[in-house]
Amino acid sequence: MRSFLIALTSVCIFIQGPLKVLANPFFLPQNLASRQSSTIKQSISFTVDCFRDFGPRILAFRFDVPGGNSAERCTALCHSHGYGLAGLEYGSECWCDNYMPYGQLMSDSDCSFTCPGDSTELCGAGNRMVVYQDSAATPPSPNICITWRDSSSFINNVLQAIPKSGSGPVTKLYAIPTNPFTDPIYYTIISTCPAGCPYTDYYNFGLYGNVIQSYNSVPYPPNVGDSQAFTSQSSVVGYAGFCPKPSPLSSNPFIGYPLLSVSGHTDLWSLCTNITAGGRQDIVYSPVANHPHYTESACQDVWIQMAPYS
Ligand SMILES: *[C@@H]1O[C@H](CO)[C@@H](O)[C@H](O)[C@H]1NC(C)=O
Repeated sequence: MRSFLIALTSVCIFIQGPLKVLANPFFLPQNLASRQSSTIKQSISFTVDCFRDFGPRILAFRFDVPGGNSAERCTALCHSHGYGLAGLEYGSECWCDNYMPYGQLMSDSDCSFTCPGDSTELCGAGNRMVVYQDSAATPPSPNICITWRDSSSFINNVLQAIPKSGSGPVTKLYAIPTNPFTDPIYYTIISTCPAGCPYTDYYNFGLYGNVIQSYNSVPYPPNVGDSQAFTSQSSVVGYAGFCPKPSPLSSNPFIGYPLLSVSGHTDLWSLCTNITAGGRQDIVYSPVANHPHYTESACQDVWIQMAPYS
């Protein structure tokens, strides 16, 4: 996340690349006419960058562009459908969305295909998307779950604990068993894997709909004061109260790795030192006083960030 944030703050440095930057793409005749009559005239501008795509597109909604793709047409289309982001890829593709949960900033020279609708503009490339952001659009609320593509879009994720205050390290999280992993039924919690821990492979978490899964196990509802627990027992129906939300940590409210929410909260996770587990740092949902496994005052409040597994 650190490097992602740094990449985002360097947006201003990179926008003056070979791409044609459109200061007022909505000031096209057909839009101007309808805007003038009933709205206060506003200066609508976009910022733009070139991003690496992951195969399934990083923006979810595709639109056909009559007359051929171009920045003016694609941004106008996305705007007319109420989206704040417009992405041009592989020359002819126009994609729209309100939030971009994944995407890696690339050099502008990567987005090298000319636009079919305007040969003076560039429209991405293979797995490269030029993303325009409407600076007049309302950013998505950090309190609302992200709906992106479909219910299995967030299936390969690495979870990372980010301290809410101070400058502590970003800590990668794992599915750690609380009984021997060799048992037919295993129980896991979200935790850290200190040096020497044998479970270093178990860091791929996925959201299937609103159920977060870890190592083929499903979650119990969060229990105030306890670790977030999972079971591999097939008779247990996974608690469907999880979702990704826009990250308030990102310098850009439209773009960033999402935060993990449960029961409506991204803000109740903590990292606590588990005294009975050799001082391992476990994720706890809303720590309480007088818990047998940790001391509340020594817990550190964290966000749980969802980053792509790769
Ligand atoms: C602490 O470790 C024990 C034993 O592994 C485990 O059962 C418990 O869930 C852990 N975490 C907390 C917060 O109690």
